[in-house]
Amino acid sequence: MIKGTFPIKKFDALETPFYYYDIELLHKTLDIIKKETENKPYHIHYAIKANSNPRILKEIAAYGFGADCVSGNEVLRALEYGFPAEKIAFAGVGKTDREINIGLDNDIFSFNVESLPELARIDFLAKQKGKTANVALRINPNVDAHTHKYITTGLTENKFGLNEQDIPAALQIITQSAHLSLIGIHFHIGSQITDLSSFENLCVRFLELQQQFNEKGATLKTINVGGGLGINYQHPNHCPIADFEAYFRVFEKYLKLQDGQTLHFELGRSVVASCGTLISRVIYEKQGVSKKFLIIDAGMTDLIRPALYQAFHHIENISSDGGLTKYDVVGPICESSDVFVKDIWLNEAQRNNLIAIRSAGAYGEVMVSQYNCRELPKSYFSDTL
Ligand code: LLP
Repeated sequence: MIKGTFPIKKFDALETPFYYYDIELLHKTLDIIKKETENKPYHIHYAIKANSNPRILKEIAAYGFGADCVSGNEVLRALEYGFPAEKIAFAGVGKTDREINIGLDNDIFSFNVESLPELARIDFLAKQKGKTANVALRINPNVDAHTHKYITTGLTENKFGLNEQDIPAALQIITQSAHLSLIGIHFHIGSQITDLSSFENLCVRFLELQQQFNEKGATLKTINVGGGLGINYQHPNHCPIADFEAYFRVFEKYLKLQDGQTLHFELGRSVVASCGTLISRVIYEKQGVSKKFLIIDAGMTDLIRPALYQAFHHIENISSDGGLTKYDVVGPICESSDVFVKDIWLNEAQRNNLIAIRSAGAYGEVMVSQYNCRELPKSYFSDTL
């Protein structure tokens, strides 16, 4: 069994569970994204909802990337950790007055608008401040992302974005307003997308929609295709970095930009998932009627993805080279769904062995809770441990 490499001796002194971030891998990933997008009219807005740990944000901001935010507090946090306001995109179906005002006060790059009432509200608040808000219309393109239903966002049944039929009314509101400036269009069809043909379909849909805008005399300067690129959860050691080359190639091939247009990406998971690992200790090995349970000190409060989306995370016993044993790896929370994985083969475990739950850097630490009065997990970084 090939395992990841971890500083186990250093881990011995630490209280579990905790998040461990491999900063070298984060840099390698960011280097590739930078290489693939520089010298092109491409802009990255890191989706800070995936991981808003201050250290991680500082590392990503240092590359000159922008941020994609979905709450007013995310906008404030992005600003605090080094993302410039003119590179902050702000999406979300339910932006409150307070949140819109945060965007207006900071002159952010764009409000990605998800409904007609929201557009009218931004106009109203911008007028009160005597400002002009840059808006991009988030259109629901009805493109299937072929991913888990909870993280599919671009179908007409989903709550996100404006429908195609809303476009004329949206353009009318913008034309009649002295406080709204249309900069472009925005999409986000879903997350953990591994079938790149979904992005091809999105490009085709964009070109159709662009025609409609142009026919109505509106030009689109910025095209924001959202995030969604998936990672390989099955093989974190063989495939630690998503295939960014293939991903950007799809857009280069299928989305021909007009002069002066820029293409924007809101990558979250693919930037940070692989560099994070949830480290936990075995509390008990328990023999059930027909199976063995490995009860660890991390639970769904520390990483909710398996319980919420039936998500798979590769798990390793990094303290043992013992024979392989089949386990259900479970947490201590009083919920039957507090199971990380069922029927996996791990090196035989003993109390206090360290268990690594891999690819937990995205939507891991940001989704923790204190259910059962649990302590929040701490975070450590490979270069400062
Ligand atoms: N842009 C918008 C407007 C989004 O809503 C999202 C993610 C992204 C970009 C970034 O997508 P990514 O590149 O990370 O796929 N908690 C779920 C994922 C929820 C994704 C929400 N939106 C999970 O653990 O799988």
